[in-house]
Amino acid sequence: MSPSIKHNTSNPEELRAEYWYERGMEAEVAGDNELALRHYGHATRLIYRFDPARQRCLALATQYKAAAAQAHEAGDVTATRDWLVRAVELDTEDGEGRQRLQALIRAEGARDLTAQCMTFYNPGRARAVYSEAILRVLEYVMLSGVVGEILEFGVLGGWTSRLFSETMRDLGMLSDIHLFDSFDGLPEYTSSVDRDSFEIAGRNIWRKRMRFSDDFVAELGESIDQHIYRRLSTVIRPERIHMHRGFYAQTLQSPPAIKAAVVHIDCDLYQSTKEVLDSLFKNDILQDGCVLMFDDWNCNKANPYYGERRAFREFLENQDIFESSEFFSYGMNCAAFFLHDRRTAQEAFSAIETSLP
Ligand SMILES: C[S@@+](CC[C@H](N)C(=O)[O-])C[C@H]1O[C@@H](n2cnc3c(N)ncnc32)[C@H](O)[C@@H]1O
Repeated sequence: MSPSIKHNTSNPEELRAEYWYERGMEAEVAGDNELALRHYGHATRLIYRFDPARQRCLALATQYKAAAAQAHEAGDVTATRDWLVRAVELDTEDGEGRQRLQALIRAEGARDLTAQCMTFYNPGRARAVYSEAILRVLEYVMLSGVVGEILEFGVLGGWTSRLFSETMRDLGMLSDIHLFDSFDGLPEYTSSVDRDSFEIAGRNIWRKRMRFSDDFVAELGESIDQHIYRRLSTVIRPERIHMHRGFYAQTLQSPPAIKAAVVHIDCDLYQSTKEVLDSLFKNDILQDGCVLMFDDWNCNKANPYYGERRAFREFLENQDIFESSEFFSYGMNCAAFFLHDRRTAQEAFSAIETSLP
C-alpha cells in the first residue's frame, strides 16, 4: 500500500484537479460564474493549464468577449472595458482582445499611480529587475502546484501590485491578490530595533514616512486605496483584488482565511515585518512551498541584527513548523525564500516506515 500523506488538506479528493473542475461545472450549471472560475482556477493551479478547466475558461472568455462587443455597440465604454478585462484574463493568447483593451485604457487617459515606480532611482531598470523576479516566483508556484493567493505588505502607490497583477494575468494564474497597507505611511517606530537602526537613527531615510500628502490625495480625487483598486481592475477582474487598509497591528488581528502562495514583504521596518510573519503563522496562512519575497533584505547595510533579516531569523527560531531555504536574490536589495513545512516530511517518513514489510 502506498503511504498516504495529508499535504495540507483533510480531504485527499481536493488534491485532484478533476475534483475542482467538477465543482466548477456544478457552479456554472447553477449560474454562478464567479464561483466556477474560483474552482477552475484551483484546478489550473494544481495542474498547470489543466485542460478540462482551461477549456471552460476559454468558453467563458468567448462569452465575455461577446458581452464586450454588445456593450461597444451600445456605446458603453466602461462596460466594454470591464468585459474585456474578464475575457483577456481567461484567454492569455487573445492578442486582439488585449490590444483593444489597451487602446481603450490609453484613450481614457486616466491618471495611474500604479504605473509609477516611486522607490527606485531608475524606473526602467526597476521594471526589468522586478518583472523578472516576480515572473520567476509566479512561474514556480504555478508549475509546482502551490495553490494559494498573493499577499503584499507595503503597497504605497501600487507599483509592485500592478507587476504582480499583470504577471498573473499573463500566466493565466487565477489567484487573488491581497494588498495590505495603512495607505497613510509608516507607523510610529515602536521597536528599539528600528529606532536604533542605521536607516532611522543613522541617515533617517524615511523621514517623510512614505505618506502621500493631503493635497496630493485631494488632487487625485479619491483615496489611494480606491485609486489602486480601480486601476488594477483594468488588469484583472475586481473580485480578485482585496484591499486591507490600516496598520498591520489592526488589520492582521483578523486576516482573511486564505493560504499564501507568495508573500511580498516591502514594509521597510523590523517591527512591521515581525507583525506580518507572526500573524501569517498564527492564522495558518503559510504553507509548504510558498515563497516569501523580502524587498528590504539588504537595508541597514545588510546587517542581520536589523530589519527584515532579523525579523525572519527570529520567526524561524521561534516556531518549529517551518524552515526555509533560499530561492534567489534579485536587484541590489531583495531576496526570495521557500518555506518548508517539516510536518509534511515527517509524515512522509513515518508513512514510509509503516508501509515497510
Ligand atoms: C516601500 S513602500 C512599498 C512600495 C511598494 N511595494 C511599491 O511598489 O512602490 C512601504 C509601505 O509599507 C507601508 N507600511 C509599513 N509598515 C506598515 C504597517 N505596520 N502597517 C501598514 N502599512 C505599513 C507604508 O505605508 C508604505 O506604503
